[in-house]
Amino acid sequence: MATDHDRFFMDIAARSALRAIGRVEPNPMVGCVLSREGRILAVGHHRVHGELHAERDAIASCRAAGHDPRGSTAHVTLEPCNGVGNQPPCVEALIEAGITRVVYAVRDPNPAKAGGGDRLRSHGVIVDQLGGHPLAHRLSAPFRQLLSDELPWVTAKWAQTIDGRIATRDGESKWISSPAARRRVHRFRSRIDAVLTGVGTVLADNPMLTARAEDGARRVRRRACRVVIDSRLSTPLSSALVESAGTYRTIIVTTPGDEAWARRRESLTRAGIDVLDVPPNPDGKADLRQALAALARQRELSTILVEAGPRLLGGLLLASLVNEAIVHLAPMILADEHARPCATGREAPLLSGASRWRLDRVKRIGPDVELWYSRDDRHGRQ
Ligand SMILES: NC(=O)c1ccc[n+]([C@@H]2O[C@H](COP(=O)([O-])OP(=O)(O)OC[C@H]3O[C@@H](n4cnc5c(N)ncnc54)[C@H](OP(=O)(O)O)[C@@H]3O)[C@@H](O)[C@H]2O)c1
Repeated sequence: MATDHDRFFMDIAARSALRAIGRVEPNPMVGCVLSREGRILAVGHHRVHGELHAERDAIASCRAAGHDPRGSTAHVTLEPCNGVGNQPPCVEALIEAGITRVVYAVRDPNPAKAGGGDRLRSHGVIVDQLGGHPLAHRLSAPFRQLLSDELPWVTAKWAQTIDGRIATRDGESKWISSPAARRRVHRFRSRIDAVLTGVGTVLADNPMLTARAEDGARRVRRRACRVVIDSRLSTPLSSALVESAGTYRTIIVTTPGDEAWARRRESLTRAGIDVLDVPPNPDGKADLRQALAALARQRELSTILVEAGPRLLGGLLLASLVNEAIVHLAPMILADEHARPCATGREAPLLSGASRWRLDRVKRIGPDVELWYSRDDRHGRQ
């Protein structure tokens, strides 16, 4: 039976796991705490993709600190793995170390590695599952989605005025949010596999979409690939994205078209762009679900940050392809009915037609507010 003590240790394990954000994907972030009689012996986490798993990291730290792990309890955010991957099974490390109780938060969804709990029990280890731990759940959510739906984890980010506008009626959006908020965006970009936008934003803003380590921002970890959704290949050869394609990996997702389209495709490929063809949706635009599935399957992109305008963001939201939203709310009001909202694409006369989101976090960033939302699937997908 899991207790309040278990929740306390699981909180520490989960926060430790978070330190590896951007370093372990597509694997889940995992944390582990070893304790005995209520005292923490060691904290470990899965630090880098392909290297030690959290349980082995915690056991190594425990021994390095001069403690014997025998007879201790392990709190792990994910059920210990029971199969060989880049690393040997964690269940064996726990058994060899003489751990007598294991509490895990989320069952291992990977059929090739599942069954760790049962294997531990068969060796006399007490095993409990601590359900309802939101952070532990979130740590492995992208991994579980990739396994079940073959879709990347999508976080949409936009900056808006108090009255909900992301650009003026003429498309001016530089800058709605403060320099401090923009520095955070560079940090987000350094923790994901790809930054995705629409050709509308490329034409309006000519963005670079790279992660820059600006004053005080943490060291850039992984270099996100840049992705543009551009059904007709209207991205100019003179755009900053195309001109820098030799330095930064860049993908344009498109739908097969006529001869002129084929010539543009050829020129973009020559300029170093990786052009990815997907089938069209009924409106003749790139089918967004197929686009994301292809980015995950064919280009191994498992976490995506969307920084797009209202048309692409609306398309992704309406297809239920966005998992989380980060909104930077700036202290500005445009009060212009033609200024651009964050998402468009349908008529929704009734509130009952709104999709539902859960507010997970609020943070003040200089003059702005950062709001984190996750899609609330309890109300059904739209
Ligand atoms: N404040 C902020 O955080 C922020 C962030 C980004 C952008 N913006 C602003 O947003 C404005 C641009 O907005 P936008 O709506 O024109 O551009 P967008 O949403 O970035 O791109 C829209 C384009 O994406 C393409 N697309 C391809 N497949 C699609 C699909 N299935 N569904 C929807 N679109 C698809 C369409 O062009 P094709 O049909 O030709 O492919 C469409 O015109 C700019 O003013 C920019 O400054 C603001």
